[in-house]
Order: sequence, then structure tokens, then C-alpha cells
Amino acid sequence: MRELSTGADDALPLGERLKVRRRYDRVAAIYDLYDAPMDLAGGRSRRRRDLARASGRVLEVGIGTGRNLGSYPETVHPVGIDLSARMLARAARRLDAAAATTTLAQADVEQLPFPDATFDTVTATCVFCSVADPVAGLSEAARVTKPDGRVLLLEHVRPRGRLGGWLADMASPVSRRLFGPSLNRRTEENARIAGLTLLDVRRSGVWREIVASPSGPEPPSLQQGS
Ligand SMILES: C[S@@+](CC[C@H](N)C(=O)[O-])C[C@H]1O[C@@H](n2cnc3c(N)ncnc32)[C@H](O)[C@@H]1O
Repeated sequence: MRELSTGADDALPLGERLKVRRRYDRVAAIYDLYDAPMDLAGGRSRRRRDLARASGRVLEVGIGTGRNLGSYPETVHPVGIDLSARMLARAARRLDAAAATTTLAQADVEQLPFPDATFDTVTATCVFCSVADPVAGLSEAARVTKPDGRVLLLEHVRPRGRLGGWLADMASPVSRRLFGPSLNRRTEENARIAGLTLLDVRRSGVWREIVASPSGPEPPSLQQGS
């Protein structure tokens, strides 16, 4: 493993991002355990399906404890960034065990330390539920993706029904405070606001598997709904 030093820690302003980082530092030791039921309930196969599309030079934002590392094609060795040093430390242990040639860095997806159009693929799983300003983060993901590259997202979003949406709104502050994720993010809309073109969206309950591009027209089938 190589580790990049980006200075992101020093650059972090006080406020929401610092709170997010502290939350994930706090839950890092138990994160895999508390998230395991989601994986068993279909999360693992969604991750595999999503990340199998990654190719070329790959950036994974919000890599967390590195749970996706076994889900990439063999030729892909992503650069992984996260805000939380403790989540990254867990990811580093996974790398050491696998002797994988992946680079980890502490960095903020809202201010990525990479030039424009650096990556062929940018991936994120269950990240934009937690990023303090998701539109800023998605805009950065778009910026560092090559014009013909792809942004692959696997995210849970605010339920569409009125009751489900209301419940998610009520439960979100508690979930955010205790564990980190919001339950009511509108990630499809946020991705569009961030300038991404949605090329494909697979919807299943609150889950969205999104293939997006930093440029180009959206297929007519996706222009209406989200
Ligand atoms: C719910 S966890 C998901 C972790 C991993 N992607 C997974 O699927 O298991 C959200 C992750 O996003 C990271 N995160 C939140 N805000 C971030 C930001 N602004 N920049 C980089 N990472 C961030 C958190 O530290 C945490 O590791």
C-alpha cells in the first residue's frame, strides 16, 4: 500500500465536515459489524454488480473500511480517499492482508486533491448519504472524471412514498448523529444538480445504482423520473 498525504486534515474547516469525520472516527471499529445486515440483505451483490463496471484509472471516494476492495475487476487498483483517518486505518489493514497495490489518502470529496479529468472511473457506495454537502462532493466527482469516463454510485435515498419519506425525515437526524448516514438524501436529483448526466439508474426500494457521465445528454427514459 502507498499512502498519499494530501493535507486534507489541516484544510478541514470546522463545522459539518468535522462532525462527519468525528462520527466516522467514532464508529470505525464497529462499522463493518453494524453494516453487515445490509450486505446480507442484497448490499454485497449490488456492490459487486456496480463495481464490476469500473475500469482504467479508478478513484473510490468515501472508501471507508475498504469493504469494496474485493469487488473490483482484478486489473483495477483504485485510489481510495476518505475523510476519516480511523476508517482509512481499517481499509489499510485490509490492503495489508491482501498485499494489494492500492493507494489510500485522507481527503475530502468536497475538495478533491486531483486535477480535472484524472480518472476513468469514480466510484462511491453509501457515501453521499453522509457527505456534508453532497452536491459539492458530486461536482468534484464529476470534475475529476474524464469526459468519456463514468461515475458509479450505489446509494440509498429518501423513500418515494409520503409515509416512507416522512419517516425517513424523522429518523434521519438520529441516524446521522449516531452512525453518520442521512436516510433522506435525494441523490439522483443531487447528481443532476452537480452537472452529472445519468446514463442508467437501477431502482430497488430505497436503493439506486447509478451510472453517470460528466458530460453528454441524458437518455430520454431517465429525463422524467427519479
Ligand atoms: C456509510 S460510510 C460508507 C463506507 C464505504 N463506502 C462502504 O460502502 O462501506 C460513509 C463514508 O463516507 C466518508 N465520508 C463522509 N464525508 C466525506 C467527505 N466529505 N469526503 C470523503 N469521505 C467522506 C465517511 O468517513 C465514511 O467512511
